[in-house]
Amino acid sequence: MQLFLDTTDTAVLKDLAATGLVDGVTTNPTLIAKSGRPMLEVIAEICDIVEGPVSAEVAATEFAGMLAEGRKLAAIATNVVVKLPLTRDGLMATREFAHEGIQTNVTLCFSAAQAMMAAKAGASYISPFIGRLDDYGAQGMDLISEIRAIYDNYDFDTEILAASVRNPGHVTAAALAGADCATIPPGVFLDLFKHPLTEKGLEQFMKDWASTGQSIL
Ligand code: E4P
Repeated sequence: MQLFLDTTDTAVLKDLAATGLVDGVTTNPTLIAKSGRPMLEVIAEICDIVEGPVSAEVAATEFAGMLAEGRKLAAIATNVVVKLPLTRDGLMATREFAHEGIQTNVTLCFSAAQAMMAAKAGASYISPFIGRLDDYGAQGMDLISEIRAIYDNYDFDTEILAASVRNPGHVTAAALAGADCATIPPGVFLDLFKHPLTEKGLEQFMKDWASTGQSIL
């Protein structure tokens, strides 16, 4: 399971990348707006911090604009993945980028049919939005299982990137459902390390160790 961070906060990213457990980064226009910084500068800085795939989303909504923006974003660094919305134009651009050898992440996926179309267009990654589906009253995780089954039936090599992740349970459920990767907000990434019994157990071990008066070094 590859773990990507869903963030444009480069200070937080540097800190968490030091764990060696961050495989890539995703961004979107909302996160760029939140950073308050120029997009091209933020993406370049993120690409310097992580070696893995860094998704940078186009703002254009029609084919020609997506191609122009996507090529500009892809030129920032070799690990940029051009993120495109799951629309007819978005998938046409995905298909063109596949021919040009540019990696793509098709975003805002809410159905298995959409995911199938993205794979046929040659998407490198498909981003099903789990949390937003749950908010909508659907079962986000069912979508991951459906996409996994379809991709396996036809040997599509598009990677399933579970997105809109809200808690550690989403990450483990996505892993069990066969997602290749999950993109996670920094707070959820930190929660993945934690369990109350780990904290309680460690506290007791430290207390008992102190009572021995010993030192290992
Ligand atoms: C990442 O690629 C997505 O843009 C992101 O996970 C969306 O998350 P949200 O639904 O919490 O905004």
